[in-house]
Amino acid sequence: TGPSLIDGFGRAVTYLRVSVTDRCDLRCVYCMAEHMTFLPKAEVLTLEELDRLASTFVGLGVRKLRLTGGEPLVRKGFIGLVARLSRHLSSGALDELTLTTNGSQLERYASDLARHGVRRINVSLDTLKPALFRALTRGGDVTRVIAGIDAAQAAGMTVKINAVALKHDNAGEIPALIQWAHGRGCDITLIETMPLGEVDQDRTDQFLSLQDVRRDLSSFWTLTDIPDSTGGPARYVHVAETGGRLGLITPLSNHFCDTCNRVRLTCTGTLHTCLGRDDASDLRAEIRRGASDAELVDAIHLAIGAKPKGHDFQIAAAQPAVARHMSTTGG
Ligand code: GTP
Ligand code: 5AD
Ligand code: SF4
Repeated sequence: TGPSLIDGFGRAVTYLRVSVTDRCDLRCVYCMAEHMTFLPKAEVLTLEELDRLASTFVGLGVRKLRLTGGEPLVRKGFIGLVARLSRHLSSGALDELTLTTNGSQLERYASDLARHGVRRINVSLDTLKPALFRALTRGGDVTRVIAGIDAAQAAGMTVKINAVALKHDNAGEIPALIQWAHGRGCDITLIETMPLGEVDQDRTDQFLSLQDVRRDLSSFWTLTDIPDSTGGPARYVHVAETGGRLGLITPLSNHFCDTCNRVRLTCTGTLHTCLGRDDASDLRAEIRRGASDAELVDAIHLAIGAKPKGHDFQIAAAQPAVARHMSTTGG
């Protein structure tokens, strides 16, 4: 076996999420505040720096890279970055190169992504209702996202839908969303809203426990647990009536930190070893001071060795668990 990153609790880190920009063309109400200050360009890693850092992790045993944002497809030169990173697919070092996107620009880029080896893609979609979508994203057009999903499927990619469950907004639409996704051959994952960064609304009020959602769905559908094969946060069930897979991401009502396999790199080169903790290492400082590859590897080992045991999200807490927004950490 090759080199590997093992944390202080014996967990192997094989999955890196890289946020390539903090910017987004939407502003989902649970993710961003109405007025966000975006980072100045000089703070953001260049595509070369992103490539160097991500590739160093691949050299250390990371098998899966997920590019996120903000919205990854609004980063200038993004397809070029995907093209460069795809060399690790060709060499066999990487099992998967993928992204999580809001889908609004996907129609334009789907075939480029597929050409560079992206086989699976996660698209965020919380509602199919145009007016609700516009309200939740502060101005987005749901028909663009659906066109993006169509294009991705036409390009041969497997699409997974992500929907954040929100008590007052899409709660009643959840069965219809699941049917819609399964009807198009997509898995769908529901996500509990997490307390990251100040937004302009009260998350306590919007929180919907997916344990309750599951119980409600069970009153009219047959749900069967699927043994975990992804190593990810979602626990999957099979829905007999739709024939599809439903994932439940429950960081609040049932956390999954014990089997965590991932770390996150922000677009400013900060390595966060836990989504819900402030622990951070400034890898940009290392590369911009001219660190050698060996020094960079040492800095990464040091950070991984100190990966926290887990988060301590409390939905009823007065303050968010961490001050940074999901859009800078990449989910
Ligand atoms: P798959 O590769 O399809 O398993 O995707 P994924 O769940 O790893 O990634 P995706 O970008 O689709 O993430 C879906 C949701 O899961 C996002 O809201 C993430 O914030 C959340 N999520 C991903 N990893 C973690 C984690 O380690 N902890 C917590 N609390 N949430 C996570
Ligand atoms: N809690 C849960 N999920 C969130 N996302 C963004 N902000 C939050 C939050 N506070 C979701 C997006 C996207 C994924 C990357 O993270 O909807 O699907
Ligand atoms: Fe943009 Fe995604 Fe945040 Fe929505 S959740 S504002 S699409 S980064």
